[in-house]
Amino acid sequence: MEKIIDEKIQGQALDLEKNDKNKRKLFIESYGCAMNFSDSEIVASILANEGFNTTQNLEDADLVLVNTCSIRDKAEQTIRKRLQKYNAIKKINPGMKVGVLGCMAERLKEKFLEEERIVDLVVGPDAYKDLPNLIKEVEDGRDAVNVILSKDETYGDIAPVRLGGNGVTAFVSITRGCDNMCTFCVVPFTRGRERSRDPQSIINEVNDLAEKGYKEITLLGQNVDSYLWYGGGLKKDFKNASEIQKATATDFSQLLDLVATAQPKMRIRFSTSNPQDMSIDVLHTMAKHKNICDYIHLPVQSGSTRILKEMNRQHTREEYIELIDNIRKILPNCAISQDMITGFPTETEEDHQDTLSLMEYVKYDYGYMFAYSERPGTLAARKIKDDVPEEVKKRRLSEIVTLQREHCAFRTEAFVGQTLEVLIEKESKKSDQHWAGRTSQNTVAVFDKENYNKGDFVMVKITDCTSATLIGNAVGYSENN
Ligand code: SAH
Ligand code: F3S
Repeated sequence: MEKIIDEKIQGQALDLEKNDKNKRKLFIESYGCAMNFSDSEIVASILANEGFNTTQNLEDADLVLVNTCSIRDKAEQTIRKRLQKYNAIKKINPGMKVGVLGCMAERLKEKFLEEERIVDLVVGPDAYKDLPNLIKEVEDGRDAVNVILSKDETYGDIAPVRLGGNGVTAFVSITRGCDNMCTFCVVPFTRGRERSRDPQSIINEVNDLAEKGYKEITLLGQNVDSYLWYGGGLKKDFKNASEIQKATATDFSQLLDLVATAQPKMRIRFSTSNPQDMSIDVLHTMAKHKNICDYIHLPVQSGSTRILKEMNRQHTREEYIELIDNIRKILPNCAISQDMITGFPTETEEDHQDTLSLMEYVKYDYGYMFAYSERPGTLAARKIKDDVPEEVKKRRLSEIVTLQREHCAFRTEAFVGQTLEVLIEKESKKSDQHWAGRTSQNTVAVFDKENYNKGDFVMVKITDCTSATLIGNAVGYSENN
């Protein structure tokens, strides 16, 4: 997803527009990937119809929902600490109910109620439409759990309530679940089988966002390249589809084309791409449309073919390099970012060197790097001993982080002297005299506010930079404005 928001900083209260009819107060907080933030907007929409307004004030809440992440042990620990904070508040406000949503709910199920006595409600990612019933159960004094995974739920019929955003950029989910079964990953277990959302409902949502003044959307899925709409149902059942369904199916490159054509002024991003599923067609569609951003988040996890195989990633180092070469050829200005895992079981120093040399080859614009964390129930946990010592994982992690920093600075510096289109998203954190926005390549740029406004597309002459931020001066509106 664009992108794992660090577990430490992602806890974020979200505020819903005030609606006077709605009397009950919901505090909703999201951890983990962008999909969780997007799901919380669906949950807020479902509960707005049940008389809930969101509040940013935890003490006032009648219902607290925490949308959780299980991707690494640390993410789960962060959430458990947060539950203690809710517990302290529940002592002052005993009527307050606490619900756990998302991947931890799905992973731990009823066990959550035993382990964390404070929890009243456990709801998995496919069961949010059942929340109104579950809340009634809780109000009647019963614990409520629904962790049933679905093969067709995409929430395509629910208009998300945009929570606490900047009013300029929004997420639009296009697939749910994942069928890839990377051996380290808990997502296929917590989010279920992969299904795609009806393209028409995606276009409707994007059109609606454009009408409301949004200027950039990110199409979201665990693995957007495997998007496939043939009338609904699981991706894996496509082989049983009728000839008509097969002939009229929409794949990801076609979806991108549809969205980019429907809203030619809307900037379009997508996340996450999976090297094994990304097609050349997607690259050509990106090249065809000016409004599709020059940025691909392309996790690789390791530079060693042997480790990639152990991870059940369906490509070799060489195939990945070929994809990178194609991106450079078809999209010469495209920024690329990575996810890496250090210390996957059996990883040797030589495998680690392969990761470093792959990074040298690509010189990623940005990266998200993690030490391997064994997740209960995954194939790796069941089959391979977590045998790389913690200090070795950490040392390797710090080596790839250091190298990534160098590459990030190298890529950022290369923009100095250029004039780039920046979409203004918000005030700069460091100065209320400056706007902050992003370039097509997803690099943050700051510049003097002058008379420009949030949501404007501005041409910015880049004069300087820090390691990851561009600094410049606006020279006029872009033609997209
Ligand atoms: N396809 C997903 C990937 C979700 S997980 C997406 O849309 O982003 C995000 C990243 O977390 C992965 O790419 C991987 O680098 C990391 N990750 C997943 N499981 C992990 C584990 N068990 N230990 C450490 N890092 C992990
Ligand atoms: Fe996880 Fe691999 Fe899917 S990282 S989300 S199983 S593509």
